[in-house]
Amino acid sequence: MKILVTGGAGFIGSNFIRYALRNHPDWHVTNLDKLTYAGNLENLWDIEGSPRYSFIKGDIADRELVDALFRENHFDSVVNFAAESHVDRSILDPAPFIDANINRRGLWVALVGGPAVYGGEPAAAEHSPYAASKAAAATPSPA
Ligand SMILES: NC(=O)c1ccc[n+]([C@@H]2O[C@H](COP(=O)([O-])OP(=O)(O)OC[C@H]3O[C@@H](n4cnc5c(N)ncnc54)[C@H](O)[C@@H]3O)[C@@H](O)[C@H]2O)c1
Repeated sequence: MKILVTGGAGFIGSNFIRYALRNHPDWHVTNLDKLTYAGNLENLWDIEGSPRYSFIKGDIADRELVDALFRENHFDSVVNFAAESHVDRSILDPAPFIDANINRRGLWVALVGGPAVYGGEPAAAEHSPYAASKAAAATPSPA
């Protein structure tokens, strides 16, 4: 099984990749990550030499790159962790959150969301630009 993980150098993505490789010996994981301030390949130091793991530095919004990756790899599944995810930064500068979390979602079939999207407080989207961007990304667009 071939899996594309986006944002796999971040907190959750790197743990997902480690879990996937340990528990699914027939999986190959390609990690596409832009390596923003939040991405750190040291999160994956223990698996970087695995023959079942590949890293590509790139942006999920780079359609040419993404198309080429799909042509070459025929992925069975995509798990998207790539996002702007730091609430404090969203309050200081919301623009990258709109760009990364909403404008680029068209490329992807899976979305990782938390309380800002699914749970807890009904007015979560009002609490920060981060929460608003995640809620917007999870809301279907009108046809
Ligand atoms: N950490 C949490 O507690 C938590 C809780 C609920 C939901 N989430 C959601 O889970 C997802 C992953 O969270 P995380 O904590 O691992 O985030 P993180 O900030 O640690 O990692 C995000 C990763 O995405 C990469 N990235 C950002 N923009 C990119 C782009 N345009 N193209 C390619 N890569 C890009 C970054 O380099 C980084 O490696 C996010 O959608 C976040 O909102 C996180």
